[in-house]
Amino acid sequence: MDKNTAGIGLVGAGFMGRCHANAFRSVSGLFDLALEPRPVVLADATEELAQASAAALGFPRATADWKSLCADPEVDIVAVTAPNALHEPVVMAAIEAGKTVYCEKPLSTTAASARRMTEAAEAAAITTLVGFNFLRNPMIRLAREVVAGGEIGEITGFRGRHAENYMADPDVPHSFRTQPEGGGAVADIGSHITSLARYLVGPIAEVAADCRTIHPTRPVAPGSAERAPVAVDDMTHALIRFESGASGSLEANWAATARTMDLSFEITGTAGAICFTQERMNELLLWSGAPGRSGYTRVESGPAHPPYGRFCPAPGHHLGFNDLKVIEVAELLDALAGGAPCFPDFREALRVQETIEAMQRSAAERAWIAVPGPAH
Ligand SMILES: NC(=O)c1ccc[n+]([C@@H]2O[C@H](COP(=O)([O-])OP(=O)(O)OC[C@H]3O[C@@H](n4cnc5c(N)ncnc54)[C@H](O)[C@@H]3O)[C@@H](O)[C@H]2O)c1
Repeated sequence: MDKNTAGIGLVGAGFMGRCHANAFRSVSGLFDLALEPRPVVLADATEELAQASAAALGFPRATADWKSLCADPEVDIVAVTAPNALHEPVVMAAIEAGKTVYCEKPLSTTAASARRMTEAAEAAAITTLVGFNFLRNPMIRLAREVVAGGEIGEITGFRGRHAENYMADPDVPHSFRTQPEGGGAVADIGSHITSLARYLVGPIAEVAADCRTIHPTRPVAPGSAERAPVAVDDMTHALIRFESGASGSLEANWAATARTMDLSFEITGTAGAICFTQERMNELLLWSGAPGRSGYTRVESGPAHPPYGRFCPAPGHHLGFNDLKVIEVAELLDALAGGAPCFPDFREALRVQETIEAMQRSAAERAWIAVPGPAH
């Protein structure tokens, strides 16, 4: 790493790869950074794919070999935006080469794998960050302040949901998401609502879950008439109990026909409540419990909610999904420049993965399951 720049190696240039590349391109114009990102090399599954994406996304070099990317002396940060089954091998190679690792969620395919990655990173004192970008929303930061500051009293309940419709059509073909190592809806989007529940209310101690596959077969490939069984859930519902004693529920559903991005929650406290959905990500509904003032008040995002003002000096003009990645990348670069740890790091992502796996076990055994780990 030279004095003022960090070399970026990006592995995987699909939906998330493009989102990371956009964030690395935009962040310097919006944040005052001590360390600026410098795109170095992009890896994809083939040379052809890698070259096309590198040209489009502003990376000077391309490769089909992520191992060489991880070992590249010009690379300081390895951003892992490849399918879940590749996370562990790529991350382990990056750790071995002493790189900072910025990995997409879920951290890996199983809790055992996530634990190996976490222990290796910690043993090598590697800075890690996992892409739970929804935590970066200024409205979520506000929600955390409201909860942590006691503004709505003692938290008694959390009702959380991540519902989208991208797998609602039974003819959507198999992908890494529907393979057992993709983890199904509960891992793919259940990880997001689990990370939010932990961020806002704290560790989840036990779960009782029901996982259901709505579409038992899907085409083996785009346009194929051949169908293969689906081994993962389309929809999971879980009852949860937090270590604090608060209780509630989580739902992960990628076949929710009417929903495009209902990553949402309602938190009930003894003195008030808050309510949020990512479909209206610039608003937080707050009920402060004042007598004669029943019903939620809509709080609109603006410069009073950092780092909104980095993007726009006027309230109500709205941030978008890609802006959350820009904020995430700014926090990574700030942490690296200051030698500080990032959040959520691998240890936190491991806790999320353990919670997901407890839900899968609970559904299989039809029983309440304690989430493992001494300090969740
Ligand atoms: N944080 C979020 O909001 C969010 C949203 C979507 C996806 N994700 C996560 O991002 C990751 C990628 O998901 P996606 O939706 O971008 O998938 P995608 O299928 O759109 O992209 C995956 C990319 O990886 C490439 N790839 C496959 N094999 C490779 C190899 N051997 N070497 C290098 N590249 C290879 C593919 O060609 C493709 O370009 C997943 O872990 C997913 O869970 C996170």
